Amino acid sequence: MLDLKKIRADFPLLGTEVYGRPLVYLDNGATAQKPLCVIEKIDALHRSLNANVHRGAHYLSERCTEEYEAARETVRAFIGAESTREIVFTAGATAAINTVAYSFGERWIGPGDNVVITEMEHHSNIVPWQLICERKGAQLRVVPFNDRGELYYDRFAELIDDKTRIVAVTQASNVLGTMPQLQRIIGLAHGRGVPVLVDGCQGIVHGGVDVAALGCDFYAFSGHKLYGPTGIGVLYGREEWLEQMPPFLGGGDMVATVTFEKTTYAELPLKFEAGTSNFIGAIGLAEAIRYLQRLDPREVAQHERLLLDYATQKLSAIEGLRIYGLAPRKCSIVSFTVEGTHPLDLGMILDKLGIAVRTGTHCAEPVMTHFGVTAMCRASFALYNTTSEIDALTEGVERAVRMLR
Ligand code: ALA
Repeated sequence: MLDLKKIRADFPLLGTEVYGRPLVYLDNGATAQKPLCVIEKIDALHRSLNANVHRGAHYLSERCTEEYEAARETVRAFIGAESTREIVFTAGATAAINTVAYSFGERWIGPGDNVVITEMEHHSNIVPWQLICERKGAQLRVVPFNDRGELYYDRFAELIDDKTRIVAVTQASNVLGTMPQLQRIIGLAHGRGVPVLVDGCQGIVHGGVDVAALGCDFYAFSGHKLYGPTGIGVLYGREEWLEQMPPFLGGGDMVATVTFEKTTYAELPLKFEAGTSNFIGAIGLAEAIRYLQRLDPREVAQHERLLLDYATQKLSAIEGLRIYGLAPRKCSIVSFTVEGTHPLDLGMILDKLGIAVRTGTHCAEPVMTHFGVTAMCRASFALYNTTSEIDALTEGVERAVRMLR
């Protein structure tokens, strides 16, 4: 079993109070708290190593470049990629998906083509595809899900055809918690010669990923949900794709030679890292990964499953409460509404009790539309959460419902 007392002590913010009450932080799907080793690493970098990477022949720049490239190797090994040429540091997962949508789309999507996504995607895995489809005269096709939050897998077979250029799907829905059967989707898409992008924002936190075993073509995730810093994300792309894709942003560091007549581009992955990269963020992310690697992944998975089951059972017992997303393959995210109350009011009262949940559309409006609601409350659990915090949430919801009804 995880030593929760010890783990919680690693995250300074968890020990704080809001409105004079102990913080119960259940908004990890939006961003996770950071362990002390990450906080201290970022502080130390600013104090003793800060210098721009790939640009200076001086001591600090060389040392900082070494750490930055070592961070790339840490990420590569963590996600099981073959080469660091396939690991692009971005500003976040949104930037990573936009890079693929723009650059892949520029090269391969044309009039009459289509892109297949699912109804449970986050806006960041919808809008970039809409933008490129609009620009290129292509069609966006959407695989729906049922009321339990499970995808209709047979619809992939119907929607993927010889005009499909790419499939983009989440590893875990940020609202429903559903973890789609990616291997099945990838097998089907690849069977028709179509590459697949996986949005790993929530999924990588709950179970990690092995991109080689999974066989996806692109994989995007952000640092801040993985106990790392904000403003840093990763785009994994198979070398044969990235090699053929045009750059997304132009600027310093992504070039080989520049003349007014013609510019040639840097080798991978720098071709996709224009401008000063968030090197401090990347090194901080590597520190967060090392923190996670010191824990036993089976114990983390077991603990998060326990939190999910416990929260589902406790919250379901509240009269009029409906949980959205009951797929058997699900990560520790529980979205809900309570009859006769508005999710924003519920969230506000919970906040006054020191309990942080997310309220609203969760950047996934189509999921709200599916269920005919305008907002939901969401409790998303991290490895450091406890069943007592779920008791506090349940009591908080009961209290809020009594006040609001
Ligand atoms: N995408 C993040 C969430 O689901 C912000 O809350």
